[in-house]
Amino acid sequence: MASVFVTRRLPGRAVAMLEEAGHRVEVWPGELPPPPDELARALAGAEAAIVLLTDRIDAHLLAGATKLKVVANVAVGYDNIDVEAAAARGVWVTNTPGVLHETTADFTFTLLLAGARRVTVSERAARAGGWKTWSPTAFLGSDVHGATLGIVGMGQIGTAVARRARGFAMRILYTSRTRKLEIEAELGLEWRPLETLLAEADFVTLHVPLTPETRGLIGADALRRMKPGAYLVNTARGPLVDHQALVEALRSGHLGGAALDVTDPEPLPLDHPLWSFENVVITPHIASASERTRARMAEMAAANVLAVLAGREPPNAVARPQGSRKRT
Ligand code: DGY
Repeated sequence: MASVFVTRRLPGRAVAMLEEAGHRVEVWPGELPPPPDELARALAGAEAAIVLLTDRIDAHLLAGATKLKVVANVAVGYDNIDVEAAAARGVWVTNTPGVLHETTADFTFTLLLAGARRVTVSERAARAGGWKTWSPTAFLGSDVHGATLGIVGMGQIGTAVARRARGFAMRILYTSRTRKLEIEAELGLEWRPLETLLAEADFVTLHVPLTPETRGLIGADALRRMKPGAYLVNTARGPLVDHQALVEALRSGHLGGAALDVTDPEPLPLDHPLWSFENVVITPHIASASERTRARMAEMAAANVLAVLAGREPPNAVARPQGSRKRT
């Protein structure tokens, strides 16, 4: 029997799975993440932790977590965890690939359409009594069908977005470190270097992980390269975009708008200038938030913990303890 700390109440059967296997589970009861000292206290006594992207698991914290064998992130992105420090301390790190890409792609399209067709601003106006008559000039947006979509990153989520874009008869450009020839052929995609994609696309959507290389990928220079009137969509990670530069690109009228499910920081302070633009849609990091997908993510994290506690390799390792051998 092991001690497992879970940093928030989870949907689905994740906690039941751990308890049924005989483990002692402590779930942080708050609506907000455990503060760093509480997290350090809990991890110091735990053999396993299920954490969220709002929990920073850094080298200092890991140094005090001497019993810890596994940190299971309930997210596919794991930029909140110092994976090298974990590996050096003999701790597995796992994530949740393969269960959230379709749901995230659904939401990416939701945001793209909401921004292009002015859904949120017109709905707010109608609720406030601004719907006086049918108007030939009010709330005019941009067509999505027939427009050019630029997808930055062609992993599982980028591919799922491309499939949806086909249904909207969009021309689809993409950029990624390696070309994906099979996907290109199947979905009729055209590869471009980032600069060219930015210059050609009417909508640019980001689907790369946050790493030291991708932090600030969309800065002032990239935004200047974007087509006048183009939209930026971000459902990946906020720090991929330089927010000050984004505010300037919106203020100058160069960009048509932005649709952001992720921001830097999160939550975005209420006095942040991005809230003041009518052509910006902002949602609170919910792209994977369908009931089924969030339950599957949590259960996947629990399955990773159960594997490690049973002495097995976890199915979704992103960092393995140093010295452990990869089974082929
Ligand atoms: C992830 O999985 O990385 C998302 O941002 C959370 O849905």
